[in-house]
Amino acid sequence: MAFADRRPSVSEPVSSSPLTETTGPRVETPTPHAALFLRKFLTKGVSVASVAPSSRHLAALAAAPVDPDTPQAIVELGAGTGAVTAEIVRRMHPESRLLAVELDADFADVVRRRFPSARVVTGSAAELSSHLAEAGLERVDVFVNCLPTPSLPKPVVEAVMRAFVERRSSPETPMTQISVMPWVYRGFYRRMFREATFRLVLKNVPPGGVYLCRGLNDAYRRKLGLAGPN
Ligand SMILES: C[S@@+](CC[C@H](N)C(=O)[O-])C[C@H]1O[C@@H](n2cnc3c(N)ncnc32)[C@H](O)[C@@H]1O
Repeated sequence: MAFADRRPSVSEPVSSSPLTETTGPRVETPTPHAALFLRKFLTKGVSVASVAPSSRHLAALAAAPVDPDTPQAIVELGAGTGAVTAEIVRRMHPESRLLAVELDADFADVVRRRFPSARVVTGSAAELSSHLAEAGLERVDVFVNCLPTPSLPKPVVEAVMRAFVERRSSPETPMTQISVMPWVYRGFYRRMFREATFRLVLKNVPPGGVYLCRGLNDAYRRKLGLAGPN
């Protein structure tokens, strides 16, 4: 069952999801963009954060809150070569709008070529609010965060989280966050979000998972100087 279908509890067994593998990793055929991705990882390291594009399994879980039946405004942060973008585009309603933000110009070009229906910005997620304004997206229904959030400079993370709260369409608007360090950053995301549920995905190189997050914790909101509902 996908994230979008219901709100699972943190203690729920991970085997209840068809996207959560319990039999051990199986390496997928490398995507045509794997070589570019690896090259970028070797030259840029922590800002790319993974040796390979996300697997279809990880991407499907990250895109799970995208609703095929409803037009939505969707934002993807850190699109890379478009592994997760592909799942978003495959799932989304024909009238949905997708804004993908990617810092690396070569990656952004790949995503632009692969997905002409998406608006792809070459730039930093730190300027998410301006990117949304330029795209004419007042409110966002789904945030898909593929950034290496724990490794980013604090001001970048804070700008993203401010934009998340100020631009979300409701206090329940989801942000999915991919991770290739299963559970390691659970405390990090729980300190930040009101709700952060992790699902393991072994079929990924390296094994990883997705956090489904909603709202911000009171303490973190205060730190960012944000008012209103969390
Ligand atoms: C772990 S990769 C994810 C790529 C792709 N979404 C996937 O799942 O295969 C992280 C991506 O975030 C991008 N990135 C890092 N810092 C960024 C920033 N400040 N703004 C936008 N993108 C950023 C990197 O260039 C890289 O493409």
